Amino acid sequence: MKNRQIDAAWIYHNGTKHSYQSIRANPHYLDFDNQPVPFKIYTELEPIALSAHLSSSAMPSLSAISALAARRDRQASPTKQTLAEILFLCAGITRRRKYPGGEMLFRAAACTGALYHVDLYLVCDELQEIPAGVYHFSPHDFALRPLRQGDCRGVLARASAAEPSVVEAPAVLLCASTFWRNAWKYQARAYRHCYWDNGTVLANLLAAAAARALPAKVVLGFVDGAISELLGLDPKREAPLSLVALGCSAAQPALSTTPLVPLVLPTEPLSKTEVDYPAMRAMHEASSLESADEVVQWRAASDSHSVEKGDRSADGGRRVFLQTPSDDDMPSATIEEVIVRRGSTRRFARESITFGQLSMLLDRATRGIFADFLHAGDSLNQLYLIVHAVDDLAPGAYVYRRDLHALELLKEGDFRRQAGDLGLGQDIPADCSVNVYFLADLNRVLDRFGNRGYRAAQLEASIIGGKLYLAAYAQGLGASGLTFFDDDVTEFFSPHAAGKSVMFLIALGKSVKRKSEL
Ligand SMILES: Cc1cc2nc3c(=O)[nH]c(=O)nc-3n(C[C@H](O)[C@H](O)[C@H](O)COP(=O)(O)O)c2cc1C
Repeated sequence: MKNRQIDAAWIYHNGTKHSYQSIRANPHYLDFDNQPVPFKIYTELEPIALSAHLSSSAMPSLSAISALAARRDRQASPTKQTLAEILFLCAGITRRRKYPGGEMLFRAAACTGALYHVDLYLVCDELQEIPAGVYHFSPHDFALRPLRQGDCRGVLARASAAEPSVVEAPAVLLCASTFWRNAWKYQARAYRHCYWDNGTVLANLLAAAAARALPAKVVLGFVDGAISELLGLDPKREAPLSLVALGCSAAQPALSTTPLVPLVLPTEPLSKTEVDYPAMRAMHEASSLESADEVVQWRAASDSHSVEKGDRSADGGRRVFLQTPSDDDMPSATIEEVIVRRGSTRRFARESITFGQLSMLLDRATRGIFADFLHAGDSLNQLYLIVHAVDDLAPGAYVYRRDLHALELLKEGDFRRQAGDLGLGQDIPADCSVNVYFLADLNRVLDRFGNRGYRAAQLEASIIGGKLYLAAYAQGLGASGLTFFDDDVTEFFSPHAAGKSVMFLIALGKSVKRKSEL
């Protein structure tokens, strides 16, 4: 089983680390004449238009972000309208900005380089106004395009080794990346971005589903080849990333064993030429599950309770407990308002946020994710903070103890300059109020899950990162994902973080208001 040969994950991870030297020595430049389009456009499929009407769930965004999945003990099927709203809220076009050479279309979830390489697909039984089938979601014209007709959920049930949430789901949303759309800029590091950019989409998706009382579960245990075949993905250029089982129905799919007809569906070329990054393919193959039996074993690993919890204490560090704001203190903005308002902060004001705001951010974003690789209270990442400016909290480096709802001080001081350096010399991590880093003990994660643990650790971090984005905007604050110098971050938080690997970074604070907002 390739998944158990965990050298592959280390080779990929170490080979795609950023360091001062690696950035300086890299001759890569952005060839704008060969920039890929940020959409997968099927040339011969008729669109099924989705309604642009977005209803308000009236659910305060911070409740939606922190909600664990809705209960699965009642029947719940999404309608065409519910699906349209969920798809818009996680991958729809929310903002347009004109520039001299054209127009940038920004989407609901943050994405590295605004390159939007993650597509969504729907596999469903017959739903209200949607026939059973397999569909691609096209954000450019807000439509679904049918790839296959008929109920294909049996393929998902088999590929996930009968994961209960998948078997019972009337609809499953699947996420897949087209590597080149991100690798054009980020080269082989783009495999990390597959999960980073999938996580921000999923944070929105989970919140949008919770606000519509639809059960949703993230599933990473599946036979990759079977999903690629179902969606007609090109395994050399594209990869399935995650599934989300949506809803709950008694009408379970038939486990037909009829082979699928291969899909031959032309799409528009992305750019003049494409560059292959073998390291991305190698990492994907090495972390692929090859049979339903392997999925069963993989899932058993996630059931294993012999694994230590992720949170480790900072010996002797001063402990500061989070404030526990009551629901009455919560801003009332709905999840729909917050997602439409979200963007990435381009400039932070060097101003402080309150300790209550920081408490709300950490508490709401880390209440758990309903996923097949996480049990209640489980986590693969620990959160480390560089605090620059939070009222009533000494500036310094902290580790967050989720189990205690407390921050533990690692070292006190003004680390604005160091935070800027760790974030590739950008202003954002130096000017914000707090940087939150996600670090995983990859030795332990890979030992438990094989190479696929790498996907799981990246995805957990980025879903929480996506929730932090939303929790910031819910409170009128700003946020931006960031990239980083890997080993320097670990060293900065050591000895506490010694041996851990950085999965994700987000900066939080107050945005500098644009002239139009003053
Ligand atoms: C994981 C991640 C890393 C990012 N890294 C950076 C970064 O290093 N520098 C930066 O200026 N923006 C960064 N961004 C922000 C993206 O550029 C931004 O999300 C994208 O342009 C889309 O814009 P929007 O978030 O305003 O919708 C990052 C975003 C994500 C999700």
